[in-house]
Amino acid sequence: MLNFDFYNPTRILFGQGQIASLSTLVPTGARVMMLYGGGSIRQNGVYDEVMAALAGHSVTEFGGIEPNPSYETLMRAIEQVKSEKIDFLLAVGGGSVIDGTKFVAAGALLDEDPWSIFDKRSANIVDALPFGTVLTLPATGSEMNSGGVVTRKSTQEKRSFMSRKVFPQFSILDPAKTFTLPVRQVGNGVVDAFAHIMEQYLTYPVNAKVQDRFAEGLLLTLVEEGPKALSDPEDYDVRANVMWCATLALNGLIGVGVPQDWATHMVGHELTALYNLDHAQTLAIILPNMLRARREEKRTKLLQYAERVWGLTGGDEDTRIEAAIARTERFFAQMGVGTRLADYGLGADCVEPVIKALESHRMTKLGEHRDVTIEVSRRVLEMSL
Ligand code: NZQ
Ligand code: ZN
Repeated sequence: MLNFDFYNPTRILFGQGQIASLSTLVPTGARVMMLYGGGSIRQNGVYDEVMAALAGHSVTEFGGIEPNPSYETLMRAIEQVKSEKIDFLLAVGGGSVIDGTKFVAAGALLDEDPWSIFDKRSANIVDALPFGTVLTLPATGSEMNSGGVVTRKSTQEKRSFMSRKVFPQFSILDPAKTFTLPVRQVGNGVVDAFAHIMEQYLTYPVNAKVQDRFAEGLLLTLVEEGPKALSDPEDYDVRANVMWCATLALNGLIGVGVPQDWATHMVGHELTALYNLDHAQTLAIILPNMLRARREEKRTKLLQYAERVWGLTGGDEDTRIEAAIARTERFFAQMGVGTRLADYGLGADCVEPVIKALESHRMTKLGEHRDVTIEVSRRVLEMSL
């Protein structure tokens, strides 16, 4: 096992009725700004429940944070934070609203253009406004981690940042609030969480038994519960298991002491920035072929994955590996997420723009061995047409 330094200060309040706890979680006397997305929370009652819990607080709001939150929108939120002297933020929504809130929390305290966070690899984040979250879409793990992803529309760039200053103080996870998710977002969430686990698990063995067994348990739970979340959307226990799985998939726990990959995510981000695919759609396209293209480097772990997650023990090694990747692909499709570029109307002419974007963002040595070169990424994209 590799050395590690694990830190996660986010308090989690899980279950039905937990939104009411906002009345005591948010400091009294704070000037609060609630940030949210395109309006789903107004339709499903979450907005009213949050406002009722904060009745004794001073609250303003900033709505309209879009999926793949944009720098342009978030800069308007930062202006409002400054002009209204806000000192506590509350994100209510999915990963986009939470990531956007993290950017606002850090950006509002900077003396320079907050886009510099990306160029300086977050080193200029010395402080951030405190914030909490109410999660409505299990997927990203953003509710319990220190990362965020922001898109600059004008230049079609999607960049990520990470800082211990932007862990949420608390997150409220009420699985019943996910009943209203459209099927597309249920599928996206399960695929994203699955990919997060794979990026940390499917590399090479370092004898990290706890992390491996944890990761396999989470993968098995998603395979078991994911399809039920589609077929029986108001089953509370199914939603509860999916929600906790997605949080544990990227709260740092399974990633400690092990090598990590993330090449699929980096290629996927360029696809979203250029062609506006949902984040999870890009992962469903790229992950299976990323595994195929790198099967030699990942051989030992692919065999472990085949056996422990898919129960594949018969046949020679290559047959088991291909069967496990094919099962992964089938699972994504079963969750309603297409696994080919063609499923989203993209053809061979999308490959070069993605390659150019990877080059210009210096994404030329990706993966756990830093050996996912531009040539490898091109091959993976061509395999995914
Ligand atoms: O905007 P509203 O109206 O709220 O609707 C949203 C949005 O249209 C809707 N939705 C959310 N909760 C709902 C609901 N609709 C009905 N009922 C509910 N309960 O779902 C749509 C998608 O929301 P979004 O927040 O964009 O989805 P997700 O949570 O998948 O977040 C995706 C973003 O997170 C980033 C992605 O790149 C992408 O920008 N990621 C963040 C990570 C992190 N911080 O660690 C890691 C991930 O790998 C990922 O990159
Ligand atoms: Zn992801």
